[in-house]
Amino acid sequence: MKKLYVVNLLLAVVAIVMLASSILIEVLHGADWLGMANHFWVALHAIFGILMAILVFAHLRLNWARVSAWLTRFKKSSNKVTKALVILSIVAFISGFAAIFTFFTSGHGPVGGIHGKLALVFLIIGIGHFIKRIKWYFKK
Ligand code: HEM
Repeated sequence: MKKLYVVNLLLAVVAIVMLASSILIEVLHGADWLGMANHFWVALHAIFGILMAILVFAHLRLNWARVSAWLTRFKKSSNKVTKALVILSIVAFISGFAAIFTFFTSGHGPVGGIHGKLALVFLIIGIGHFIKRIKWYFKK
């Protein structure tokens, strides 16, 4: 099976997990659930978040070929939504990594709050990006 197909399929599944875990963290609001500490759910969210960051990297790498060509391709792209998505993915993942540090040292704080909002915007635009291209999955 083509690498890009596997990456894109996994990305769709992990995106659903991220949407569910993000909503869960928001709803729990620091509370425990199903006998598991709140920290467990946040850790699970962060692990899947790291997996998603790796998959997004692979997705960009496979679509845009050589890393050295990324910037040129990015600049040339006339699709503003794709451009916004690339920038927001970087913001979502970097703020996510920062939130791991703040959350596991001093609990929920502004870094986590800002991360949550920006990452959700990223995920919603990402779902739109996916829906627009859904036919691609059935072409194989
Ligand atoms: C699609 C990507 C992601 C989405 C949509 C997302 C969404 C969210 C949301 C909505 C929250 C709750 C914020 C709040 O309680 O105010 C949150 C918290 C958190 N996220 Fe993410 N996230 C994503 C990726 C990541 C990644 C990649 C990491 C780490 C590598 C991460 C780590 C965390 C941590 C540690 C918290 C807890 C922060 C706190 O409560 O202070 N997230 N995320």
